[in-house]
Amino acid sequence: MTSVPAATAASGESTNAANRSALAQPLELPNGFVIPNRLVKAALSEGLGRKDFSPGTRIRNLYSRWAHCGVGLSITGNVMVDRTQTGEPGNVVVEDHRDLDDLVAWAETARAGGSKAWVQINHPGRQIPRTVGMHPVAPSAIALPGGAKLFAKPRELTAAEIQEIIGRFATAAAVVTEAGFDGVQIHGAHGYLISQFLSPLSNQRTDDWGGTPEKRHRFVLEIVRAIRAEVGVDVPVGIKLNSADFQKGGFSEDESLEVVHKLAEEGIDLLEVSGGTYTTSAMLGVDDSLKESTRKREAYFMAYAERVRADLPDLPLMLTGGFRTADGMVEALQSGAIDLVGLGRPLCVQPDFPAELLAGTADDSVVVPHRTGIRLLDNITEITHYSVQLWRMGNGKEPAPDRHPAFNVSQYLLHNGLESLRPQRA
Ligand SMILES: Cc1cc2nc3c(=O)[nH]c(=O)nc-3n(C[C@H](O)[C@H](O)[C@H](O)COP(=O)(O)O)c2cc1C
Repeated sequence: MTSVPAATAASGESTNAANRSALAQPLELPNGFVIPNRLVKAALSEGLGRKDFSPGTRIRNLYSRWAHCGVGLSITGNVMVDRTQTGEPGNVVVEDHRDLDDLVAWAETARAGGSKAWVQINHPGRQIPRTVGMHPVAPSAIALPGGAKLFAKPRELTAAEIQEIIGRFATAAAVVTEAGFDGVQIHGAHGYLISQFLSPLSNQRTDDWGGTPEKRHRFVLEIVRAIRAEVGVDVPVGIKLNSADFQKGGFSEDESLEVVHKLAEEGIDLLEVSGGTYTTSAMLGVDDSLKESTRKREAYFMAYAERVRADLPDLPLMLTGGFRTADGMVEALQSGAIDLVGLGRPLCVQPDFPAELLAGTADDSVVVPHRTGIRLLDNITEITHYSVQLWRMGNGKEPAPDRHPAFNVSQYLLHNGLESLRPQRA
C-alpha cells in the first residue's frame, strides 16, 4: 500500500495546499487494484430503481451528476439479491442477467469521470418495513427491537435457504462485475442480514449457523468465499462492517475485531468501518450510545479503526461517518490510522464537495445535524432529508440543502406513494 505523506502543518493550523495533497494520493490495494485518490462516496441507497427493480434513467442521472464529483471510488447504494426481500422502495435487485444492459449503462455512467465504481450487495433480513414486505426472513424469528411495529416479525431461515442466499450474493457479484463495475462491497453492517447472523441478540440458532461466535461468523465468511470463487483475486471484494451494533448484549467491538481477523485471513481487499442498526442509528451520529469522546471526534468510529490498524496494519481501511472538514480528513489519513475517507451525506447536498476539497476551494461541508431529541423521529428525518436530495438529482435537479427537513419528510412520503403508481419501465 502507498502511505500518505506525514503532516506538514502544525497542529491547530488550517489545512494548507501541501498537506491537502494527502487526499489526492492514489491507494494501491494488495491485489494491485489502484484507487486514484483517498476520497470515497460511501453507499447511499438511491431509492431510484424501477418498479421491476432494474436501474434506469433516474439512477443514471444521479451518477452522471456525481461522475466528476472528485472521489477515487464510488460505492453504489445497496443492491439486493432477492426481489421478494427488498429493504426500501426503489431498491435495485440483481438476481441474474436480465438487466445486464441497464447495469452496463449504470457502470459506464458511474466510471465516466475516472473514478472506480463498486456495487454494494445486501440482503435486508428482518429489516423490511411493513410497507415494503410482510414476509421477512432472518437467522431467528425475532422481531426488530424498537421498530415501533413498523417491521413484521421474521421467519427463521432453513439451512438450505441460507446456502441459497450465499449463492445469491455470489451471483450478484459475478453479474455486476461482468457489467463493468470494478468491484463489490458486501454490506455486513447496519443491522441487515449479515449483521443479524453476527449478533447474539438476533441469531439464536443452535445449528451450524449459530450458538457460538464461530458459527455466527460462518455466514459472512461463506459469502466472502463464494464471491471470491466467482470473481477471482483481481476483482476487489470489500466489506462494510459494524464496529459494534450499540445494543446491550449485541455485537461488541471485541467480537467485531475477531471477525475482522477472520476476514483478513480470507483475503478481503478493503474493510469499511461503520456502526449501528436501523433503530440505533450510530452510523448517522444520531445515537446517544456513542460515547461523548467519540462524538467530539469528527469521525464517529475512529477509536475502533485505530484498534483494527494496530492489530492488522496491512489491511486497507476506510472509515465512514462524520467526516466534514478537510482538516479532519487530512489528519485521519496522516495519522496512519486509515487509508480512505468515506463520505455519505455531504455527497447528497454538495455533489462537488470532494473535487472542491482536492482543488482547495472548500474546507468544510455544510452538513449539520437535524435533531429534535426523539431518536426514531430523528433517524427518519435524517434519512428522508438526504434521500430527497438524491431523488432531486435523479430528476435532473440540484440538491436543496436549505429546505426544512419537515418539508422533505412530506416529500418522501409523497414520492413513495407515487412510486407505487409509477409504470414499470419509466
Ligand atoms: C440517504 C442515505 C442512504 C444510505 N444508504 C446506505 C446504503 O445503502 N448502504 C450503506 O452501507 N450505508 C448507507 N447509508 C449510510 C452511509 O453510507 C454512511 O455510512 C453514513 O451516512 C455516515 O456517513 P456520513 O456522516 O458521511 O453521512 C446511507 C445514509 C444515508 C443518509
